[in-house]
Amino acid sequence: MINVTYSGQKQDVLNQNQVSRLQAIHEDLYKKQGAGNDFLGWLDWPSGLSDEFLNNIRNTADQIQKQADVLIVIGIGGSYLGSKAVIEALKPHFEKNPNFEVLFAGQHVSGAYLKQLMDYIDDREVALNVISKSGTTTEPAIAFRFLQNYMEDRYGEEASSRIYVTTDENKGALLNLAKEKGYQRFVVPDDVGGRYSVFTAVGLLPIAAAGYNIDELIHGAKQAEDGLSTFDPENNPAIQYAAIRHNLYEQGFTNEVLATFEPKLSYVQEWWKQLYGESEGKEHKGIFPVSVTYTTDLHSLGQYIQDGKRDLLESFLIVEEVEEDLELFEAEQNADELNYLAGTSLNDFNLVAYEGTSKAHLSGGVPQIGIHLPKIDEYHIGYLLYFYMLACAYSAYLLDINPFNQPGVEEYKTNIFKLLKKPGYETE
Ligand code: PA5
Repeated sequence: MINVTYSGQKQDVLNQNQVSRLQAIHEDLYKKQGAGNDFLGWLDWPSGLSDEFLNNIRNTADQIQKQADVLIVIGIGGSYLGSKAVIEALKPHFEKNPNFEVLFAGQHVSGAYLKQLMDYIDDREVALNVISKSGTTTEPAIAFRFLQNYMEDRYGEEASSRIYVTTDENKGALLNLAKEKGYQRFVVPDDVGGRYSVFTAVGLLPIAAAGYNIDELIHGAKQAEDGLSTFDPENNPAIQYAAIRHNLYEQGFTNEVLATFEPKLSYVQEWWKQLYGESEGKEHKGIFPVSVTYTTDLHSLGQYIQDGKRDLLESFLIVEEVEEDLELFEAEQNADELNYLAGTSLNDFNLVAYEGTSKAHLSGGVPQIGIHLPKIDEYHIGYLLYFYMLACAYSAYLLDINPFNQPGVEEYKTNIFKLLKKPGYETE
């Protein structure tokens, strides 16, 4: 399925010490006894999904599509990046007058964005899915205050049947509000953190509402859950990816550049950055995740990657088979001097660009990991996301880090509350 390759300094990627360490991590993971083990619900989540749950998601998605032209998903971090990543990967680049759109809000605090969003939806039928595990995160709460008000002004009592809430089962301000207003509710499981929640209702409801096949997405995730659960470091790509990047980290490669030639994967890259950055970046340790889209960024960050400070490793996410392509043709005049490319498809060009870039960066001292994805569809994206989550758990455990908490994210929140004098924080 997914295939991981490595090129760089000759090194023993899997020495005996590392194999024993990985074996211990594997046991901790699957016996659910490592650090943060109360947040390991995602590990066997795909195989545990019931028909009843999936039917409820599908039926609600149908209902949303019938009642609205636009679903606004309100959430930040893990509460929006999973669905955004899948939808962006699958949707066409351009769509004339789409019948149904999924838009996002609450992922930042921009008055202009929110104002323009409310103007944009004015002549369209609207539904909201507000998503927050804690139910108290400020950015989505702010967006929801405006959009809830907008919905009530516009739809009156009917607003409550157009608002869907995904939050904790037992606590949080959002839960209380949902109960009070009678909004339809979905649960963020206790044992699944935001950035590991794409296969729960957090990701599945917006993805299904956008019209994508969640059965195939789950099928891919299940195959990954099953196929990657064996301790076989020579053949398990999740273990290989974790082991290689950890070895490189130990040699001083402290930044990972995730590169792709496929612009549709740009939000998979954003999702990956959150997953790895929030899971590993603790106790002054961890690889800093950055991303580039080639060939665009070869004309900007490419210079640094080739020739800047040598603490970068590069992981290429390469799609083997593309859905649509164009072939260069012979022009009579050849004024652009491109006739030498006649017969070459744009994807052939990208594959050559991959080879050329990879060789250039390698000779510039940037070790390379290749992650090869057969194609972009629901099944393969489901597989890929599960692969990255599992590899992330291995990677963080290799650093002796709890992958599932985010103490650093709390620090800035407290400061904002103090500065804005949120009740309870005035005297701090
Ligand atoms: O991965 C995480 O846990 C975080 O990024 C959260 O998803 C993010 O902070 C949003 O939190 P919440 O869903 O509680 O609003």
